[in-house]
Amino acid sequence: MKTFGRFITFEGMDGAGKSTQIGLLVEALRAHGLDVLCTREPGGTPLGEKLREALLGMEMNVDTEAMLMFAARREHLAAVIEPALAAGTWVVSDRFTDATYAYQVGGRGLEAARCDALEAWVHPHLKPDLTLLFDLPPALAAARMSANGAEPDRFEREQRGFFERVRAAYLERARREPMRFHVIDAAQEPRAIAQEIASVFKERTWL
Ligand code: TYD
Repeated sequence: MKTFGRFITFEGMDGAGKSTQIGLLVEALRAHGLDVLCTREPGGTPLGEKLREALLGMEMNVDTEAMLMFAARREHLAAVIEPALAAGTWVVSDRFTDATYAYQVGGRGLEAARCDALEAWVHPHLKPDLTLLFDLPPALAAARMSANGAEPDRFEREQRGFFERVRAAYLERARREPMRFHVIDAAQEPRAIAQEIASVFKERTWL
């Protein structure tokens, strides 16, 4: 009998070092013979990638921003995530709905009830099986981002206070759902983080 795949999300502030660890995890899962799909939000579909371009590049009202995040997410779920999970594929996503609570609700001050309503519309029954939250003081995240030299997008150009609120919102969600979240001290060396992630999977007897 075919079983459902697992849904794993990576969250955290810009500059926390998720990308390297996503690559390592996907490699490790595939080495165990699992079928793995690696994707991201906003994005993950041709339409989602167009919406991403607008979201990262154009000024807009916060309600518009939240609705476009969820519009991209609806498409992503329907076209990519749900069919993959149903086929037994493991899905690893760089960000999902926790990011909307952290950035739009925490960072921008969107009323949480609006985000609740969008979540209830777009994915009333689906939650990640595991969310790895990369936690880092905003000053350190900012230093890492300026060191990498890439042109900052609309979110990355935000002030320190914005990232303090994003971080607090993420940590509050992790506190409320300790079984789903695993919080990682992202100030550690990449190798130590990779080991920590491997041990999370072993504890759950997923690997
Ligand atoms: P990300 O892919 O992490 O950026 P990068 O390619 O620079 O590593 O995420 C893009 C940005 O979108 C990031 O700053 C967070 C923001 N975002 C939200 O504000 N709300 C959301 O729901 C999502 C999914 C992302």
